[in-house]
Amino acid sequence: MKDVIVIGGGPGGYVAAIRAAQLGASVTVVEKENLGGTCLNKGCIPTKALYKNAEVVHSVSTMKEFGVNIDGGFTIDIPQIHKRKEEVVFKLVDGVRRILNSYEIETIFGSAEIKDKNQVVVHKNDGETENLETKNIIIATGATPYIPDNMKSDNPNIMTSDEIINFDHIPKSLVIIGGGVIGMEFANIFHAMGTEVHVMERNDRILHRLDSDLSKRLQAHVKKQGMKIHNKAFVKELNSKEDGSIEVVGEEKGKELILNCEKVLVAVGRRPNLKGMNLENLGVNHSLKGIETDDNYETNVEGIFAIGDVLGRVMLAHEASHHGIIAAEAAMNKRITHNGSVIPSAIFTSPEVATVGLTEEEAKAKKMDYVTSKFMFGGNGKALAMGDSHGFIKVIANGDTIVGVHIMGLNASDLIHEGVLAVSRGMRIDDITGTVHAHPTMSEGFAEAVMGLKGDSIHALAPKKK
Ligand code: NAI
Repeated sequence: MKDVIVIGGGPGGYVAAIRAAQLGASVTVVEKENLGGTCLNKGCIPTKALYKNAEVVHSVSTMKEFGVNIDGGFTIDIPQIHKRKEEVVFKLVDGVRRILNSYEIETIFGSAEIKDKNQVVVHKNDGETENLETKNIIIATGATPYIPDNMKSDNPNIMTSDEIINFDHIPKSLVIIGGGVIGMEFANIFHAMGTEVHVMERNDRILHRLDSDLSKRLQAHVKKQGMKIHNKAFVKELNSKEDGSIEVVGEEKGKELILNCEKVLVAVGRRPNLKGMNLENLGVNHSLKGIETDDNYETNVEGIFAIGDVLGRVMLAHEASHHGIIAAEAAMNKRITHNGSVIPSAIFTSPEVATVGLTEEEAKAKKMDYVTSKFMFGGNGKALAMGDSHGFIKVIANGDTIVGVHIMGLNASDLIHEGVLAVSRGMRIDDITGTVHAHPTMSEGFAEAVMGLKGDSIHALAPKKK
């Protein structure tokens, strides 16, 4: 009998498996496709490889500004783009395989079916069936793209992120339904490579869960770059034409909207993978939106845990990994890690955005006595020298305590972590302003934004006299 069976080998599952093994557990991971899950194989990592392509194309297109001229223009080699992307993916997936092996974690490739709280049947990819016994089960089966009924189609040009990631040419035109994280990351990639991109977002702005300062400014910026953003827009039907192209019939702000395009990307959210989990019979509390757990990520059935996207809450790889560590420790009765309620997020648009803690809207809703301060990267030496000074850092403090940090700009995904420490450790304004930041760096912008909370920012105009 195993101590732990982990179902799903993504960033939730493989991390849970490693942590359990570190604590002395005998562990089996059951994975139906590839180790690394969506993140490594179809999500975070391959899209970041493509994000780099978008950056390179942008750099080449703006070389003149830096005094570099290439005569005769440039071409894009799609097979090479995918080759590089797949090499990156392979290195990481193989790395996970090697780490699991080093901990003597068994990996079985196939679909798991939970029989009861101690028994899992695996329908292996090689056609065999294997029965496993275990003390604990960790469900880490992730989520798949959700396709509303009126967008279902057998036209291969109507795609989800799972398919578009393997594009074989750069489409002339692309309508993206959903201006959320997936929609905007692909919008950035294809727009940079020359596709005419339309985004239809039913809300009044793209990435509407972000602090509105951030999402409004990003929306204005991408529109200026040439992306077509349709707010308060929704699709009624997708009509496939004979040549495979699509007529998107919908509405924008109450008026009819018709768009003709070569491809459509449906990016309106993801739904948990519950197939084979037998939750009804096991008596595990859940809905189609996800599985319910306690703070240890244990379900109401003792010994059955669930982590990551399958919970149907925030779907982020790093959050899934954090759940995995907590669940593994709880399964082994060695709870060490604290529940991290402060989870940052990073979105790879151009420029990047990254955020942690409360948005201004949330601070307002909580009736906090908050102050905000913004430092524009236009006043930052490093940003200007790098030729990328769009954006800002916004900091929100409740009294003296930093409760939210929101960044749009170059390397925002890395810069955010000083904010993560500040918010998660409840740091005060003086903790940051009393800390020397190296020059010239983007991080100086964070110190400046925090100084600005007291009107003490150095590289900003003096506050207006009252
Ligand atoms: P999402 O929830 O981020 O965005 C979906 C968007 O579609 C929302 O803005 C919503 O208002 C809009 N929408 C929904 N139905 C619509 C309709 N019928 N017509 C027009 N707009 C509609 O979901 P998304 O982008 O599919 O991503 C799924 C999950 O994956 C999210 O939880 C996301 O955070 C996560 N993810 C995170 C990444 C990152 O952190 N960098 C990268 C990719 C995904």
